[in-house]
Amino acid sequence: MSSPFALFPERASTMAWSVDALFLFILWISIFFTVGISAAVVYFAIKYRRKHDDEVPVQIEGHLGLEILWSVIPLILMMVMFFWGTKVFLQLVVSPADATPIYVVGKQWMWKIQHPDGRREINELHVPVGEKFRLIMTSEDVLHSFFVPAFRTKMDVVPGRYSSLWFEATREGVYHLFCAEYCGTSHSGMTGRVVVMSPADYAKWLSGQAPAGPAGGAMADVGAQLFTAKACNTCHDGRPGALGPPLAGTFGHSVTLADGSEVVVDEGYIRESILNPQAKLVRGFQPVMPTYKGQLSEEEILQLITHIKSLKSVEASGEKP
Ligand code: CUA
Repeated sequence: MSSPFALFPERASTMAWSVDALFLFILWISIFFTVGISAAVVYFAIKYRRKHDDEVPVQIEGHLGLEILWSVIPLILMMVMFFWGTKVFLQLVVSPADATPIYVVGKQWMWKIQHPDGRREINELHVPVGEKFRLIMTSEDVLHSFFVPAFRTKMDVVPGRYSSLWFEATREGVYHLFCAEYCGTSHSGMTGRVVVMSPADYAKWLSGQAPAGPAGGAMADVGAQLFTAKACNTCHDGRPGALGPPLAGTFGHSVTLADGSEVVVDEGYIRESILNPQAKLVRGFQPVMPTYKGQLSEEEILQLITHIKSLKSVEASGEKP
């Protein structure tokens, strides 16, 4: 957040320069042709203006070479923009597999952020420099959009589903966080800051954080308590003959559904299965699970998801289930 006015925000992520380079390429091409065509219009209007009242212009029948030239050059330029744009877009939207998840819930008019270790922040996000993070985001009410100009990344936050955005900060500093989707009266106030710290400062900041509150603890632990409190464990404990499919070790893998199709168990699938259990029923199980719609907040659903995700690692490491 340096000067109040700058043509470009600071570049503080690994993607920032890729996005700017593409933008500048398109900008300069546009400027070149806008200026060139405007100048040509003025020049030819003057050069070929009517000089006497009885002047009759010479008819021109066209020029094949010229036609090809002004079709092929724009085609090439457009194709460069298209493929370059696609490449940058894919880099922006496909999160690297080693990115650390952070969970974001947008609501009118604030950003609620949960780290897997249980820390919570509101309208602030603290991260160390040089590490990859993946934000898994949803909304409690209407459409929002998570926008960090210095990172050149922005993603809509949509009620009823998860969207994700990733970044790796390259410079320490404090950067703007904006909501970039009009979401009601205080949309303009739905701002925050992203604080990028050196690993040492970040460790210091972590240790200075107040211990988690009454419902605190790592997200997966809170999720585990919820898992019992909502009696998920009675059907999903993995016993033979249990009413619900076992969950341990399923995250990231695919399961076969009643209709024979396969679905990968990801955040979105777990969320759907909690709120609309019959939508994608695992083969071999009866549609007996009640919906938990209205009984869990978005944050609680995320806690349950991190618990279910963690069931994999606990089993794999041979500790108690
Ligand atoms: Cu949230 Cu605009």
